[in-house]
Amino acid sequence: MYRVIILLLAASLALANGHVHDLDAYFEEADTSSQERVVGGYDVPEDEYVPYQISMQFLTRNGQQRHFCGGSLIAPNRVLTAAHCVNGQNASRITVVAGIRDLNDSTGIRSQVQSYEMNANYQELVTSDIAILKIDPPFEMDGKRIDTIDVSGSELVPSDQEVLLTGWGSVFHFGTGPFAKYPTILQKLNYKTLSNDKCKETMTQLTATEICALERFGKGACNGDSGGPLVMHNGETLKQVGVVSYGTAFCASNSPDVYTRVSMFDSWIKERMA
Ligand SMILES: *[C@@H]1O[C@H](CO)[C@@H](O)[C@H](O)[C@H]1NC(C)=O
Ligand SMILES: *[C@@H]1O[C@H](CO)[C@@H](O)[C@H](O)[C@H]1NC(C)=O
Repeated sequence: MYRVIILLLAASLALANGHVHDLDAYFEEADTSSQERVVGGYDVPEDEYVPYQISMQFLTRNGQQRHFCGGSLIAPNRVLTAAHCVNGQNASRITVVAGIRDLNDSTGIRSQVQSYEMNANYQELVTSDIAILKIDPPFEMDGKRIDTIDVSGSELVPSDQEVLLTGWGSVFHFGTGPFAKYPTILQKLNYKTLSNDKCKETMTQLTATEICALERFGKGACNGDSGGPLVMHNGETLKQVGVVSYGTAFCASNSPDVYTRVSMFDSWIKERMA
């Protein structure tokens, strides 16, 4: 079973702590190629927003801002994402955009990443794939297009819990070719969680810091977006339970997708909110 978070291996440098991705090389090659991408989710309807969803964008050598990972707004000036999205990257070339459902929508609000912190236990494809970005200026919440998501609490999320994944796809995407075309409209996918025991039957190196979800029909597992949020209903509100981490190489293969289990990092996150 191949576990992958990225497929742009030719443009990666192996480091002790995982891969550092050469995003300049990635986007330059992507622009000269065109393959279709399988999308198993559906468009977020027009005039509907996922207010906690942000797009992480990389400033290329040509001066373009390109989406490469998802994230979630957990405070006006803090974004939660995956460690593999920022590992080795230059923070001053990364901005985050909030308030959009279409990546082409120029009315989104942009904020600059000042710094990032990866969890000290992060090991690529193994554990603790979580990072927090400090951004400036802080976003202003408007309750419709831009809002925070609750990540607090350390209760264990059970199996068979209905969850929602949102994302635009990403260059760290699992399951698709490196030069895939990604949708510009935000995609949604309804899922259910699996117990870790069940997930371990396929994803044998799974740890307690992770949570799995499986799409019922084996389609749409390509639809993840590294760093992006997996959320569940918690009474009237939503709570984030996962951060997109990795999946298998074959996207319609009915294998679970692996997320960082947010509740395991409750105190780590809280300490970094101030
Ligand atoms: C980070 O990017 C900025 C802006 O492009 C650049 O000025 C700076 O030299 C880069 N830093 C490193 C360590 O590459
Ligand atoms: C989004 O913008 C890009 C670049 O300007 C363009 O090629 C693409 O067709 C646009 N997509 C949509 C859905 O408007």
